[in-house]
Amino acid sequence: MLPISHKQRLNIERLVDRDRDNKDNGNDVIEGLTKNQKSLPPRYFYDDRGSQLFEKICQLPEYYPTRTETAILEQYAGEIANLTGVCELVELGSGSSTKTRLLLNAYSNLGSRLRYIPIDISEGILAESAKNLLIDYSNLEIDGLVGTYSQALKRLLPSKTSRMVFFLGSSLGNFNPEACDRVFAEIKAALKSGDYFLLGVDLQKPLDILEAAYNDSQGVTAAFNLNILEHLNWKYRGNFDLNNFKHDAFYNVDCSQIEMHLISLRSHSVSLKALNLNVNFQKEETILTEISRKFDLDLMRKYFQDRGFKVIQSRTDSNQWFGLILARVP
Ligand code: AVJ
Repeated sequence: MLPISHKQRLNIERLVDRDRDNKDNGNDVIEGLTKNQKSLPPRYFYDDRGSQLFEKICQLPEYYPTRTETAILEQYAGEIANLTGVCELVELGSGSSTKTRLLLNAYSNLGSRLRYIPIDISEGILAESAKNLLIDYSNLEIDGLVGTYSQALKRLLPSKTSRMVFFLGSSLGNFNPEACDRVFAEIKAALKSGDYFLLGVDLQKPLDILEAAYNDSQGVTAAFNLNILEHLNWKYRGNFDLNNFKHDAFYNVDCSQIEMHLISLRSHSVSLKALNLNVNFQKEETILTEISRKFDLDLMRKYFQDRGFKVIQSRTDSNQWFGLILARVP
């Protein structure tokens, strides 16, 4: 029998930039830049260059989360696959799909066909990694969705088999508690009874380790942070001058979160023509570009239970730096 060609096994649907009524009209940028503490949604980090910079971050010696989560998956992907059995795999924020391969290996051992639905805000990295996966996995069918988590979760069709949504890398940490509740509700709505949710969370640990991870010596994180302004310049015809801003990242102990800011080095103003927006910056004023919350594993398990999930397994590395929680919809 002829192998099914790569084209037939790949389908990518673009949701972002499509309909102007949904969130993707820049209102979130206007809202963020007109608040007292200016802020930007972290999803604007991930244009194609931002996604590449993030891949570089994942390989930095100081950035422990990727390496640690990978080690946990190397050890437990087989166990996870055995616990859930055959599933359709839906990944939130798939990026380069590197860690995904550990799950794909485990699930490939369970059955013949495997359906994988990567969801990412950056079309470039999604398309590229999907193509590479199809070369390496002849049993795979990929239906990618380019959009926000919210857009994509709503777009998922009911699955005939079980489904497992997985959300790795502690990207959940980008959401404040209220937004986190919303994401959990959206994920739950995309699941039926007997489906699964696998979540990776970065755990609380000594401050020096946390702060080093967001202030790497090569300046990659700084470049990643500043690139959000380039993305806005391109997307909304802005005139941010990157020389007017400086990267800053620190651990806010009270909120158990890393905060990344861009500090304005001088008093100046910026315009985003496509949004009809003018923004004034004072010297030393900051834009909060990201929070990265650090979790307590026991509280997180409780959080799952309180939202109607049953936690069936949770695993950490030997340092207990990172946690992986597998939950089921009863
Ligand atoms: C992708 C959100 C998990 O918070 O550690 C890495 C993003 N920012 N370095 C994180 C990030 C700066 C990352 N997440």
